[in-house]
Amino acid sequence: MCAEIYFAGGCFWGVEHFFKGVDGVLGTEPGYANGSFANPTYEQVYTDTTGFAETVRVQYDPSRVSLARLVRLFFTVIDPLSLNRQGHDEGTRYRTGVYYSAVEDLPVIEAEFALLRERIGAEPVVELEPLRCFYGAEERHKDYLDKNAGGYCHLPLKVFRYLRLYQDIRLMIEGETDGVARMAEAAALIFERMRFFWVGFYRVIGDELVLGPFQGPAACLRIARGRGVCGTAWRGARTIVVPDVEQFPGHIACSSQSRSEIVVPLLRDGSVTAVLDIDSTSLEEFDASDAIWLELICETI
Ligand code: SME
Repeated sequence: MCAEIYFAGGCFWGVEHFFKGVDGVLGTEPGYANGSFANPTYEQVYTDTTGFAETVRVQYDPSRVSLARLVRLFFTVIDPLSLNRQGHDEGTRYRTGVYYSAVEDLPVIEAEFALLRERIGAEPVVELEPLRCFYGAEERHKDYLDKNAGGYCHLPLKVFRYLRLYQDIRLMIEGETDGVARMAEAAALIFERMRFFWVGFYRVIGDELVLGPFQGPAACLRIARGRGVCGTAWRGARTIVVPDVEQFPGHIACSSQSRSEIVVPLLRDGSVTAVLDIDSTSLEEFDASDAIWLELICETI
């Protein structure tokens, strides 16, 4: 089975390259969407007067990757608060948007927009519209980054690293029923690939969090509900991004080297069963994009 969705995320070279790597994606095509005339050329669109947006058609198998997940992944590769500018590219042709060709997709996409709004605490400037027209780009723009090693890509390297990490964790723990084994494998992979200072899990046992599988320096063994970043994420059943640990009231310092932190709850039937805690030695290491990726990873654990 094949379905399709269209993403405008700035320069289409990087956006196509990213979606081509997503499991369940069957095909990608860069092109121009929602402009004012037929068969535009790159040079015409480049004048920024045509109404077209550089857009990637993503064809996918819904039994392998859901539309909701694709939209969520799309939100990690754009700056949803930047109007008509992504990376170094500026102009209406580089605006961001999700364009649907099947109207029944709208509620699913709207739900993802609502989650994004909540996550960033602001109104995203990303269009959500029906696809009015789409014209494939010239041959030289197809698979651009495969044909041009070292070619311009405005997407942060981090999203390609997370995509591989996410897909590898799914593959590695598939079929394993033991929760601790799944957490151990995930902690090792996240630590090795992303090179964070500390990566580990605390499991909910009774009225405390108890240290589980981790990678990095020795850490505190138990955390009470509501205490520290971990206990607060548990109590609120939500992800907490801490740009500067010194600014977080009640932060528990397991190491003086930790400067920023993110804690993501693992949920089963709406209840928190554990939290994933990641520390960095840099300030402001984590943002909404990290939160989306790590929540996707926690869903698989
Ligand atoms: N900083 C955490 C405690 C765990 S360590 O970072 C590994 C907190 O405040 O909950």
